[in-house]
Amino acid sequence: MTDARERFLIRYAGSFAPFIVARAEGAWVETADGRRVLDFTSGQICSTLGHNHPRVTAAIRQTLDEVVHLNSWMLSEPVLALAERLASLLPAPLEKVILLNTGSEANEVALKLAKMHTGRFEVVGLTRSFHGLLSGIGSINFSMAHAGYGPLLPGSFALPAPYAYRCPVRHCDGACDCTCLAAGFDLVDQQSVGSLCAVVAEPVLSAGGIIVPPDGYFRRLREFCDARGMLLVLDEAQTGFGRLGKMFGFEHDGVVPDLVAVSKTLGGGIPLAATIASSEIEEDCVAKGFLHVTSHVSDPLPAAAGLAVLEVIEEERLVACARERGEYLLGRLRELQAVHEQIGDVRGRGLLAGLELVEDRESRRPADVLGAAVTAECLRRGLSMNIVRAGSSANCFRMAPPLTITEDEIDLAVEILDESLTAVLAKRPELTHA
Ligand SMILES: Cc1ncc(COP(=O)(O)O)c(C=O)c1O
Repeated sequence: MTDARERFLIRYAGSFAPFIVARAEGAWVETADGRRVLDFTSGQICSTLGHNHPRVTAAIRQTLDEVVHLNSWMLSEPVLALAERLASLLPAPLEKVILLNTGSEANEVALKLAKMHTGRFEVVGLTRSFHGLLSGIGSINFSMAHAGYGPLLPGSFALPAPYAYRCPVRHCDGACDCTCLAAGFDLVDQQSVGSLCAVVAEPVLSAGGIIVPPDGYFRRLREFCDARGMLLVLDEAQTGFGRLGKMFGFEHDGVVPDLVAVSKTLGGGIPLAATIASSEIEEDCVAKGFLHVTSHVSDPLPAAAGLAVLEVIEEERLVACARERGEYLLGRLRELQAVHEQIGDVRGRGLLAGLELVEDRESRRPADVLGAAVTAECLRRGLSMNIVRAGSSANCFRMAPPLTITEDEIDLAVEILDESLTAVLAKRPELTHA
């Protein structure tokens, strides 16, 4: 079928879904031909309150009557209120906010601030990380998408991710003891030209296969940064505002970063992001001429949506919900693991869960063809999930349902996954070596 999808759109990530969406509500999307699909990725992991939450849509409608967009030097009430609210949620000294649009941009701004403040330029990311696809921050995106676009920024280095199921330094098995961190800094130090500026990290590496760093990892990372005068930048695009069962992912380790970037989960589906710094960093950078003026910096419409998101998260106790429902989801996935040999590992925190498929548990060979077939079968049966790259191939299901997900909806998703795995393996037993 040659339709508008093929004629008029640049295919920005391979193929498109085999249906057109007509509407969405809560954890569900409804296709133009009337099918309901359970959305276990909250859109692009943005609709943490579920799709089209009435409080978010009401806040947006109000801005349509008042003001949608302004010149960047004019401020509005929603912008001031959101900045104050973000500062009140974050620990001292994080209190200065810039309101932006996308996660890539929030990280880009964090890097600009870090470089200007330290006067250095070398930036370190974790392997299997994802921080966005702009050229600057994309240089320390190690999970995908470097080939074909020319050189990375000079001074872009990688630390091996604490991926205990497939230890990058072949040291641990199942429980990381942070040897990868020490080995990684040894490499970084030897490559550095003496301008180490910052480390950027996700509290849980999501696109790289739902890798949960061990307890204490970020405290150790902070020590490595401090010893070199580097800043610690945490990218809370997916993990901020409750998904991991705490307001921010970094709270799990009791570490306060120097800069935080938030995005996806702040806007309730509207493009909204923020970078938050200390007054010390802000004042220093402003004195040095910091500039980041964009078309939609400090726009009222997204700010109003973000404020509504934060109010609902607090009023509906969604951080605690994520913790409780997350435990329930992981428990149900472990039950599945007990019956399917091809589920090599189940991991996650809060409502960010990963399930890694292998050909068999002995070899742990990634079962990427099986993963693609099961994803398609799940979708046919009404469950939408991502498959992301763990190891060298795309064999890890990522589940990030809205924080408002119910136990019944989790049960339904697990049932569809169970039936899909069974059906695919019955039809195509060659997809496994077990
Ligand atoms: C952890 C993380 N950081 C940054 C980004 C980039 O955000 P955006 O796509 O809004 O630029 C993403 C997007 O998936 C992400 O997962």
